Formats: sequence, structure tokens, C-alpha cells
Amino acid sequence: MNTITEYLESNRSAAEAELFELLRIPSVSTDSQFANDVKKAGHWVADKLTQLGLSTEVIATRRHPIVYAESPPVPGKPVVLIYGHYDVQPPDPLEEWHSPPFEPTVRNGNVYARGATDDKGQLYTHIKSVEAWLQTQGSLPVQVKFLIEGEEECGSGSLYEFLDGQYDNGRTAMDRLKSDIAVISDNSQFGPGQPAITYGLKGIAYFELRLTGPSQDLHSGSFGGAVTNPANALSTLLAAIRDANGRVQIPGFYEDVISLDQRERSQIAALPFDEDQFCQQVGVKALSGEEGFSTLERRWARPTFDINGLWSGYQGEGAKTVLPARAGAKFSFRLVPNQDPDKITQSLKKMLLELCPPGIEMELIPFHSGKGILVPLDSPYLRAAESAITSGFGTKPVFIREGGSIPVVSSFKEKMGIDTLLLGWGLSDDNTHSPNEKFHLADFHKGALASAHLIDQISSLEAF
Ligand code: BES
Ligand code: MN
Ligand code: MN
Repeated sequence: MNTITEYLESNRSAAEAELFELLRIPSVSTDSQFANDVKKAGHWVADKLTQLGLSTEVIATRRHPIVYAESPPVPGKPVVLIYGHYDVQPPDPLEEWHSPPFEPTVRNGNVYARGATDDKGQLYTHIKSVEAWLQTQGSLPVQVKFLIEGEEECGSGSLYEFLDGQYDNGRTAMDRLKSDIAVISDNSQFGPGQPAITYGLKGIAYFELRLTGPSQDLHSGSFGGAVTNPANALSTLLAAIRDANGRVQIPGFYEDVISLDQRERSQIAALPFDEDQFCQQVGVKALSGEEGFSTLERRWARPTFDINGLWSGYQGEGAKTVLPARAGAKFSFRLVPNQDPDKITQSLKKMLLELCPPGIEMELIPFHSGKGILVPLDSPYLRAAESAITSGFGTKPVFIREGGSIPVVSSFKEKMGIDTLLLGWGLSDDNTHSPNEKFHLADFHKGALASAHLIDQISSLEAF
């Protein structure tokens, strides 16, 4: 490992310059105006993998391309599948950025740019680690496969089609992707200086609700109280989804929730978490949530409901006495492992229809969904990751869950029977999806080193 470590050490500024090149491409997947840039980012990643000598394909889909690359097979050794995404969230609100989102800028040892941590910077650590192996050893001790998509931030539609057999170009996705373990770095450490292995992620079910009332906006004095107001109806419906104590009221919602056992609760409680500091980080004076659970339990292991967008009526300056004709909301549930998004969608729809007042047309549109996951803790791959992170970061990792969702993890399990090592190099204050997204450059380099150690560690395991 010495020469690999030295290579990564001496290659640091080149690695940063390359990452910044990728960060300059505004690969916003949800907005079709950026479609060409998304494509450009996909090709940029593919070109890099080709230069390393991997056999690389850019797989065209109905939307954004999937990049697939693999190194030669190593008989008797595990095959490692590294997943990441080269697309990013929209950068708005632009005026809140201290430097432009697609001009990577270094301040205080952090690089600021959209995608810095989610996921270009974290993904690139694995590319640099493979490069270090190939440049210094001439080959990899295990077969490595890269699956890098451009639609993660908008629901991964094409990736699921690919996994289901579309775009196979003469070789099925399952044949390409067959592996023993998946590795994803698209999440966080527990805190600065405290790396972690994530063993649980939440699932998600996302909706838009549209309510239509009268055929046009009305005078609220002449018609209010007699004609149902869609904005009033919307607030009634949304308020019914959750009670004052944070319990979701959809029938059967908690039926499949696996409750936290005492051992896990104690482990979570033993982590050094400071509520005051957390309040400060998010800029609030107090916290609230489901009764009977700690802040970390609420964030990591309990299902939640959040309104993500809300609109109706007059938004301009001053007052306007209007009874709006329409109202709408976007909202989502974060689910825990074993909850089924489809079952919850059915139950939610039934409940809202029953509660919907007369004079209102209701349309519930389900967007993307995905299941939560738990990674078994008793696997040799987890031990390998623990040792690799200790070598790369100089600190033993703690075991955590997170509240974000990476739905492809449950697809890997269901379709290929493989588990995923969730090795986040980010920090919880990296401002993912927010203005001033950042990635700590020291963690970028430590992540690359940990990845190189991981390849080494896995190569001493037998393939299953
Ligand atoms: N990298 C995140 C997932 C994540 C965030 C994991 C925080 C752990 C902690 C990913 O890019 C993401 O944003 N996922 C979406 C879900 C997707 C279905 C749009 C999310 O969690 O909102
Ligand atoms: Mn991500
Ligand atoms: Mn994201």
C-alpha cells in the first residue's frame, strides 16, 4: 500500500483540478434545459474511466446516459460494484450562494460548488483510488465495476429501466453488474473527524396533490363560506396526515415498521450528539418531532411526513380578498425499512378521498418512491470497510443510520442479492441540495485513500 499512498499524496492537486473540471459542468438532471450539460458530464466521467484503461460504455437511455465501466476479472476474488451519480440538484436560490454554484471555489479547506459532496466529489474518490492502483501496481487485485448514473436526483427512471433489461446492447444489465458487494459514497460521516459506516437509510414516497374548486377565483366576501375554498381544503387535508405529536395518521402506516430494539437505541444514545449545536447548525431555537424518540432516532429510524412545496391564492404585496380556484402541494414521507411505498400510497389515497370536502376535485400524483434499507452488520465486507476507513481517516468509524434515501440500494439487494457498503465521506453541514454546497478537501483525499485500502482489504476475502 505504500506506493499507492504515496501516489495519492503526490497527486492531490491534480485530483482537485480534475474534480473542479467536473464540478464546472452544470449537470442538473431534473431541468431539460441542462440536458446537454448532463450528457457532457456523463461523457467526462466515461472519458476519465477509459483513460484509466477500463472497458467503458456510455449507455444512451430515453433521458440521461448511464456510464458503465469494468476492469478485467480476477478469478477467485470478489467483484466490487461502485455506484455513484454525476447529476446534481438545481442550484437555486442563486442569490444565496457566496460564489457561483458552477465555479468551484476553495474557502477554509472546502470546495464550494453544486455537486461538490453530492455526489461528484465523493464519487471521484473511488475513481482516483482505482487510478492509484493501476498507475502503481499495473492492475487491480479484484474486479471493479463502475455504475454511474445521471438521473439520481430526479428518480433514477432510466437506471431502473436498465436494471429491468432495457438498453442492454447485447449484454444484459445483470450480466454486466453481477458482483459480490456494492460500494456507495453518497452520504455522510457522523461528524468532523468522526468517519462512519452507514447501515440504514430511509425510503421515500413523494406526491403532488392538486385541488380544484370553482372555475375561477372568486370574491371571498360574496362567495366565501358557501363555496368550498381549495386552500382551506388543502390545509384540512394536509393537517389530517399528521397529528400534533408528529404521528402519521394514514391507516396502517406503522403496521410494517420494525421497532428499534433496546440494543440499537443504546448504541444511538451513546453517540456524541449535541442538540444545542445541532439547533445552531440549522438555525432554530428548539426542535420537535414524534414523541418518545430522540432527535437521532427521529432523523435516522422513524418515518416522517414533510410538506416540500405549497401554493394557492394571492402571493403579491398587500392584501387581496380572494377565494382561490386552485390549491396544491408537494409532500413526501420518509419511510423506514420494511415499509412498502405502494401500500402507503393506496392507503393515503383512500384517506384523502374520504376527507376531501364537497365541491373540490382532487388529484393525487405519486412521483418517485423507494424502500428503506438496513445493511447486515455481521459481514466480512463490513469488517473490511472498517479497517479501510481506519487506515484512510486515521480514526475508527462509528456505525450510524441516515435519513436520506438511495433507492438503488434495495434494487441491488432484490435483483442481485448483494449488500451495499455505505461509506459517506461528506459532513451533515455540507449543504446538500442547498445554497453553498461544499466538500471538505481533506476528506476528499482521505476518502480516496480509504477506497484504495478497501480494494486491498476486499482482495483478501474469498468470493462467495
Ligand atoms: N445523496 C443523497 C442521499 C442521501 C442524503 C443519503 C443524505 C444519506 C444522507 C441522494 O443524492 C439524494 O438526494 N436522494 C434523494 C432521493 C431520490 C429518490 C430523489 C433524497 O434523499 O431526497
Ligand atoms: Mn447523492
Ligand atoms: Mn442528492
